[in-house]
Amino acid sequence: MLKNKNYSSIEGIKLFLSSDDTTKNVISFYKDDPFPNYELTDNKLTILEKGDNNLFTSSLKEFIGYNKKILEVGAGTCQLSNYLGIGNRNNITAFDANLSSLKIGSDFAKKNEIKNINFICGDIFNEHFEDEYFDIILCNGVLHHTKDTFAAMEKISKSLKKDGIILVGLYNKFGRIRTFFRKFMYKLLGKKYLMLFDPVLRKINKKSVKKIDAWIKDQYTHPVERSHTYDELLEAFEKTNIKFFNSFPSCDFFNETEDNQNISSLFKRGNECKKIDRILTQISMIFNRQGDEGGLYIFLGQKK
Ligand SMILES: C[S@@+](CC[C@H](N)C(=O)[O-])C[C@H]1O[C@@H](n2cnc3c(N)ncnc32)[C@H](O)[C@@H]1O
Repeated sequence: MLKNKNYSSIEGIKLFLSSDDTTKNVISFYKDDPFPNYELTDNKLTILEKGDNNLFTSSLKEFIGYNKKILEVGAGTCQLSNYLGIGNRNNITAFDANLSSLKIGSDFAKKNEIKNINFICGDIFNEHFEDEYFDIILCNGVLHHTKDTFAAMEKISKSLKKDGIILVGLYNKFGRIRTFFRKFMYKLLGKKYLMLFDPVLRKINKKSVKKIDAWIKDQYTHPVERSHTYDELLEAFEKTNIKFFNSFPSCDFFNETEDNQNISSLFKRGNECKKIDRILTQISMIFNRQGDEGGLYIFLGQKK
Protein backbone atom coordinates (compact mmCIF):
# COMPACT_ATOMS: atom_id res chain seq x y z
CA MET A 1 0.00 0.00 0.00
CA LEU A 2 2.77 2.46 0.92
CA LYS A 3 5.23 3.47 -1.81
CA ASN A 4 7.93 4.31 0.67
CA LYS A 5 8.71 2.44 3.88
CA ASN A 6 10.83 5.26 5.25
CA TYR A 7 8.58 6.13 8.19
CA SER A 8 8.79 6.10 11.96
CA SER A 9 6.09 4.52 14.14
CA ILE A 10 4.41 6.22 17.08
CA GLU A 11 1.84 4.24 19.04
CA GLY A 12 1.00 2.21 15.95
CA ILE A 13 0.68 5.28 13.68
CA LYS A 14 3.07 5.36 10.71
CA LEU A 15 4.60 8.82 10.54
CA PHE A 16 6.05 10.63 7.52
CA LEU A 17 7.23 14.19 8.15
CA SER A 18 6.20 17.04 5.85
CA SER A 19 8.46 19.95 4.95
CA ASP A 20 5.74 21.98 3.23
CA ASP A 21 5.10 25.36 4.89
CA THR A 22 1.32 25.40 4.32
CA THR A 23 0.96 21.86 5.68
CA LYS A 24 3.08 22.77 8.72
CA ASN A 25 0.87 25.81 9.28
CA VAL A 26 -2.26 23.61 9.15
CA ILE A 27 -0.65 21.03 11.48
CA SER A 28 0.08 23.65 14.12
CA PHE A 29 -3.44 25.07 13.71
CA TYR A 30 -5.08 21.72 14.59
CA LYS A 31 -2.45 20.64 17.16
CA ASP A 32 -4.28 21.91 20.26
CA ASP A 33 -7.83 21.51 18.92
CA PRO A 34 -7.93 18.41 16.71
CA PHE A 35 -11.04 18.39 14.51
CA PRO A 36 -13.86 17.36 14.79
CA ASN A 37 -13.10 15.56 18.11
CA TYR A 38 -15.41 13.29 20.08
CA GLU A 39 -18.19 14.05 22.54
CA LEU A 40 -17.27 13.12 26.13
CA THR A 41 -19.71 10.22 26.12
CA ASP A 42 -18.62 8.70 22.79
CA ASN A 43 -17.80 5.01 22.50
CA LYS A 44 -18.25 2.30 19.86
CA LEU A 45 -21.99 2.09 20.47
CA THR A 46 -22.67 5.84 20.34
CA ILE A 47 -20.51 6.25 17.21
CA LEU A 48 -22.40 3.40 15.57
CA GLU A 49 -25.73 4.84 16.64
CA LYS A 50 -24.88 8.37 15.48
CA GLY A 51 -23.49 7.07 12.18
CA ASP A 52 -26.53 4.88 11.57
CA ASN A 53 -28.89 7.75 12.38
CA ASN A 54 -27.06 10.14 10.07
CA LEU A 55 -28.33 9.74 6.50
CA PHE A 56 -25.01 10.70 4.93
CA THR A 57 -22.82 8.28 6.88
CA SER A 58 -25.29 5.40 6.88
CA SER A 59 -25.94 5.71 3.11
CA LEU A 60 -22.19 5.92 2.51
CA LYS A 61 -21.59 2.77 4.57
CA GLU A 62 -24.28 0.90 2.68
CA PHE A 63 -22.91 2.13 -0.67
CA ILE A 64 -19.37 0.98 0.22
CA GLY A 65 -20.43 -2.57 1.08
CA TYR A 66 -17.82 -5.20 1.93
CA ASN A 67 -14.25 -6.25 1.12
CA LYS A 68 -13.13 -2.82 -0.03
CA LYS A 69 -9.89 -0.91 0.37
CA ILE A 70 -10.84 2.55 1.57
CA LEU A 71 -8.70 5.65 2.05
CA GLU A 72 -9.98 8.55 4.13
CA VAL A 73 -7.84 11.58 3.31
CA GLY A 74 -7.74 14.28 6.00
CA ALA A 75 -9.44 11.94 8.46
CA GLY A 76 -8.94 14.34 11.39
CA THR A 77 -9.91 12.52 14.60
CA CYS A 78 -11.23 9.63 12.47
CA GLN A 79 -14.92 9.42 13.46
CA LEU A 80 -15.86 8.48 9.91
CA SER A 81 -13.12 5.83 9.53
CA ASN A 82 -13.99 4.36 12.92
CA TYR A 83 -17.70 4.27 12.08
CA LEU A 84 -17.08 2.72 8.66
CA GLY A 85 -14.80 0.09 10.22
CA ILE A 86 -17.37 -1.23 12.69
CA GLY A 87 -19.02 -4.54 11.79
CA ASN A 88 -17.11 -5.44 8.61
CA ARG A 89 -13.69 -6.42 7.30
CA ASN A 90 -13.15 -3.48 4.99
CA ASN A 91 -9.54 -2.39 5.01
CA ILE A 92 -9.57 1.27 5.99
CA THR A 93 -6.70 3.74 5.93
CA ALA A 94 -7.16 6.91 7.97
CA PHE A 95 -4.67 9.47 6.64
CA ASP A 96 -3.97 12.95 7.97
CA ALA A 97 -1.09 15.41 8.32
CA ASN A 98 -1.88 15.93 11.98
CA LEU A 99 -0.47 13.37 14.40
CA SER A 100 -2.44 14.66 17.41
CA SER A 101 -5.74 14.15 15.53
CA LEU A 102 -4.77 10.64 14.43
CA LYS A 103 -3.70 9.75 17.98
CA ILE A 104 -7.21 10.54 19.22
CA GLY A 105 -8.72 8.42 16.42
CA SER A 106 -6.29 5.57 16.98
CA ASP A 107 -6.81 5.60 20.79
CA PHE A 108 -10.56 5.44 20.18
CA ALA A 109 -10.10 2.47 17.83
CA LYS A 110 -7.86 0.64 20.34
CA LYS A 111 -10.18 1.29 23.27
CA ASN A 112 -13.18 0.08 21.28
CA GLU A 113 -11.42 -2.84 19.56
CA ILE A 114 -11.93 -1.58 16.01
CA LYS A 115 -9.12 -3.46 14.32
CA ASN A 116 -9.38 -2.89 10.58
CA ILE A 117 -7.95 0.64 10.38
CA ASN A 118 -4.40 1.70 9.45
CA PHE A 119 -3.40 5.12 10.74
CA ILE A 120 -0.95 7.00 8.52
CA CYS A 121 0.35 10.49 9.19
CA GLY A 122 1.70 12.35 6.16
CA ASP A 123 1.17 15.07 3.58
CA ILE A 124 -1.11 14.63 0.54
CA PHE A 125 1.53 16.30 -1.62
CA ASN A 126 4.10 13.60 -0.80
CA GLU A 127 2.09 10.84 -2.54
CA HIS A 128 2.62 8.08 0.02
CA PHE A 129 0.27 5.51 -1.51
CA GLU A 130 0.73 3.09 -4.40
CA ASP A 131 -0.98 4.02 -7.67
CA GLU A 132 -4.43 2.51 -8.34
CA TYR A 133 -4.63 0.77 -4.94
CA PHE A 134 -7.88 1.91 -3.30
CA ASP A 135 -11.48 1.09 -4.29
CA ILE A 136 -12.82 4.16 -2.53
CA ILE A 137 -11.31 7.49 -1.54
CA LEU A 138 -13.14 9.82 0.84
CA CYS A 139 -11.97 13.39 1.26
CA ASN A 140 -14.44 15.63 3.01
CA GLY A 141 -13.63 19.20 4.05
CA VAL A 142 -9.88 18.90 3.48
CA LEU A 143 -8.58 20.02 0.09
CA HIS A 144 -9.61 23.67 0.54
CA HIS A 145 -7.21 23.73 3.54
CA THR A 146 -4.15 22.74 1.46
CA LYS A 147 -1.86 24.94 -0.61
CA ASP A 148 -3.68 24.02 -3.86
CA THR A 149 -7.11 22.34 -3.83
CA PHE A 150 -7.04 20.76 -7.26
CA ALA A 151 -3.35 19.84 -7.34
CA ALA A 152 -4.07 17.98 -4.08
CA MET A 153 -7.06 16.25 -5.69
CA GLU A 154 -4.88 15.11 -8.58
CA LYS A 155 -2.35 13.66 -6.11
CA ILE A 156 -4.90 11.65 -4.11
CA SER A 157 -6.77 10.35 -7.15
CA LYS A 158 -3.60 8.64 -8.43
CA SER A 159 -4.05 5.96 -5.76
CA LEU A 160 -7.66 5.29 -6.86
CA LYS A 161 -8.27 2.16 -8.97
CA LYS A 162 -9.92 2.36 -12.39
CA ASP A 163 -13.72 2.45 -11.78
CA GLY A 164 -13.00 3.34 -8.15
CA ILE A 165 -15.13 5.96 -6.42
CA ILE A 166 -13.98 9.30 -5.04
CA LEU A 167 -16.01 11.52 -2.72
CA VAL A 168 -14.86 15.14 -2.41
CA GLY A 169 -16.43 17.70 -0.06
CA LEU A 170 -15.49 21.37 -0.47
CA TYR A 171 -16.67 24.73 0.81
CA ASN A 172 -18.93 26.39 -1.72
CA LYS A 173 -18.44 30.03 -2.72
CA PHE A 174 -22.17 30.73 -2.40
CA GLY A 175 -22.95 28.34 0.45
CA ARG A 176 -20.30 29.88 2.66
CA ILE A 177 -21.64 33.45 2.45
CA ARG A 178 -23.46 33.14 5.80
CA THR A 179 -20.30 31.79 7.44
CA PHE A 180 -18.46 34.93 6.25
CA PHE A 181 -21.13 36.96 8.03
CA ARG A 182 -20.77 34.81 11.20
CA LYS A 183 -16.98 35.20 11.01
CA PHE A 184 -17.46 38.95 11.04
CA MET A 185 -19.82 38.74 14.05
CA TYR A 186 -17.32 36.49 15.87
CA LYS A 187 -14.56 39.05 15.33
CA LEU A 188 -16.86 41.82 16.52
CA LEU A 189 -18.55 40.16 19.51
CA GLY A 190 -16.41 37.11 20.34
CA LYS A 191 -17.43 33.58 21.30
CA LYS A 192 -20.17 34.52 23.76
CA TYR A 193 -22.83 35.46 21.20
CA LEU A 194 -21.85 32.99 18.49
CA MET A 195 -24.58 30.51 19.57
CA LEU A 196 -27.16 33.04 18.37
CA PHE A 197 -25.83 32.88 14.81
CA ASP A 198 -24.46 29.36 14.50
CA PRO A 199 -27.03 26.51 14.34
CA VAL A 200 -24.31 23.81 14.49
CA LEU A 201 -22.97 25.15 17.80
CA ARG A 202 -26.46 25.08 19.26
CA LYS A 203 -26.66 21.32 18.58
CA ILE A 204 -23.40 20.37 20.38
CA ASN A 205 -23.72 19.30 24.02
CA LYS A 206 -22.55 22.31 26.08
CA LYS A 207 -20.35 20.07 28.21
CA SER A 208 -18.31 18.96 25.17
CA VAL A 209 -16.04 22.00 25.43
CA LYS A 210 -13.30 20.52 23.21
CA LYS A 211 -15.75 19.80 20.42
CA ILE A 212 -17.20 23.32 20.68
CA ASP A 213 -13.74 24.90 20.57
CA ALA A 214 -12.69 22.70 17.64
CA TRP A 215 -15.76 23.79 15.62
CA ILE A 216 -15.31 27.52 16.37
CA LYS A 217 -11.61 27.41 15.55
CA ASP A 218 -12.11 25.43 12.34
CA GLN A 219 -14.97 27.59 11.03
CA TYR A 220 -13.93 31.09 12.04
CA THR A 221 -10.16 31.27 12.45
CA HIS A 222 -8.63 28.90 9.88
CA PRO A 223 -5.38 30.29 8.40
CA VAL A 224 -5.71 28.34 5.10
CA GLU A 225 -9.16 28.28 3.58
CA ARG A 226 -10.70 28.69 0.13
CA SER A 227 -14.13 28.04 -1.32
CA HIS A 228 -14.99 26.71 -4.79
CA THR A 229 -17.91 26.58 -7.20
CA TYR A 230 -19.46 23.48 -8.75
CA ASP A 231 -17.90 24.52 -12.07
CA GLU A 232 -14.39 24.55 -10.65
CA LEU A 233 -14.75 21.05 -9.20
CA LEU A 234 -16.38 19.71 -12.37
CA GLU A 235 -13.47 21.02 -14.43
CA ALA A 236 -10.99 19.45 -11.99
CA PHE A 237 -12.83 16.09 -12.23
CA GLU A 238 -12.57 16.28 -16.02
CA LYS A 239 -8.83 17.05 -15.91
CA THR A 240 -8.19 14.25 -13.40
CA ASN A 241 -10.01 11.66 -15.52
CA ILE A 242 -12.93 11.35 -13.13
CA LYS A 243 -16.48 10.98 -14.39
CA PHE A 244 -19.01 13.04 -12.43
CA PHE A 245 -21.58 10.73 -10.81
CA ASN A 246 -23.71 12.93 -8.56
CA SER A 247 -23.60 15.82 -6.13
CA PHE A 248 -25.15 16.96 -2.90
CA PRO A 249 -26.96 19.32 -2.99
CA SER A 250 -28.27 17.64 -6.11
CA CYS A 251 -27.96 19.34 -9.51
CA ASP A 252 -31.59 18.48 -10.27
CA PHE A 253 -32.89 21.91 -9.29
CA PHE A 254 -36.10 21.75 -11.36
CA ASN A 255 -36.85 18.23 -10.27
CA GLU A 256 -36.57 18.84 -6.55
CA THR A 257 -38.47 15.82 -5.29
CA GLU A 258 -38.17 15.09 -1.61
CA ASP A 259 -35.87 12.20 -2.45
CA ASN A 260 -33.56 14.52 -4.39
CA GLN A 261 -33.14 16.85 -1.45
CA ASN A 262 -32.09 13.94 0.66
CA ILE A 263 -28.35 13.19 0.87
CA SER A 264 -28.90 9.46 0.36
CA SER A 265 -29.78 10.30 -3.30
CA LEU A 266 -26.05 11.08 -3.79
CA PHE A 267 -25.30 7.35 -3.84
CA LYS A 268 -28.39 6.12 -5.68
CA ARG A 269 -28.04 7.19 -9.29
CA GLY A 270 -25.86 9.09 -11.72
CA ASN A 271 -26.91 12.61 -12.56
CA GLU A 272 -26.13 15.33 -15.06
CA CYS A 273 -25.10 18.73 -13.81
CA LYS A 274 -26.46 21.36 -16.20
CA LYS A 275 -25.26 24.96 -15.98
CA ILE A 276 -28.61 26.46 -14.97
CA ASP A 277 -29.11 23.79 -12.25
CA ARG A 278 -25.60 24.44 -10.98
CA ILE A 279 -26.24 28.16 -10.64
CA LEU A 280 -29.62 27.81 -8.90
CA THR A 281 -28.52 24.97 -6.61
CA GLN A 282 -25.57 27.00 -5.38
CA ILE A 283 -27.61 30.17 -4.84
CA SER A 284 -30.13 28.17 -2.82
CA MET A 285 -27.31 27.00 -0.53
CA ILE A 286 -27.14 30.54 0.87
CA PHE A 287 -30.59 30.05 2.38
CA ASN A 288 -30.86 26.36 3.18
CA ARG A 289 -29.34 23.93 5.70
CA GLN A 290 -26.00 23.84 3.84
CA GLY A 291 -25.67 27.56 4.45
CA ASP A 292 -26.47 26.93 8.13
CA GLU A 293 -23.71 24.36 8.40
CA GLY A 294 -20.79 26.08 6.69
CA GLY A 295 -21.60 25.65 2.99
CA LEU A 296 -19.99 22.28 2.33
CA TYR A 297 -21.01 20.48 -0.89
CA ILE A 298 -20.12 16.98 -2.00
CA PHE A 299 -19.27 15.49 -5.37
CA LEU A 300 -19.09 11.80 -6.11
CA GLY A 301 -17.07 10.63 -9.12
CA GLN A 302 -15.75 7.50 -10.74
CA LYS A 303 -12.23 7.06 -12.14
CA LYS A 304 -12.27 6.42 -15.90
C1 LIG B 1 -11.53 20.34 8.63
S1 LIG B 1 -10.58 18.93 8.98
C2 LIG B 1 -11.64 17.69 8.29
C3 LIG B 1 -11.63 16.43 9.08
C4 LIG B 1 -12.62 15.36 8.61
N1 LIG B 1 -12.45 15.03 7.21
C5 LIG B 1 -14.04 15.79 8.88
O1 LIG B 1 -14.78 16.02 7.90
O2 LIG B 1 -14.42 15.90 10.02
C6 LIG B 1 -9.28 19.02 7.77
C7 LIG B 1 -8.21 17.97 7.96
O3 LIG B 1 -7.34 17.96 6.82
C8 LIG B 1 -6.02 17.72 7.24
N2 LIG B 1 -5.08 18.21 6.23
C9 LIG B 1 -4.94 19.48 5.80
N3 LIG B 1 -3.94 19.56 4.89
C10 LIG B 1 -3.45 18.29 4.73
C11 LIG B 1 -2.42 17.72 3.92
N4 LIG B 1 -1.68 18.47 3.10
N5 LIG B 1 -2.19 16.39 4.01
C12 LIG B 1 -2.95 15.62 4.84
N6 LIG B 1 -3.95 16.11 5.64
C13 LIG B 1 -4.19 17.43 5.59
C14 LIG B 1 -5.94 18.51 8.56
O4 LIG B 1 -4.88 18.06 9.39
C15 LIG B 1 -7.32 18.26 9.17
O5 LIG B 1 -7.34 17.17 10.06
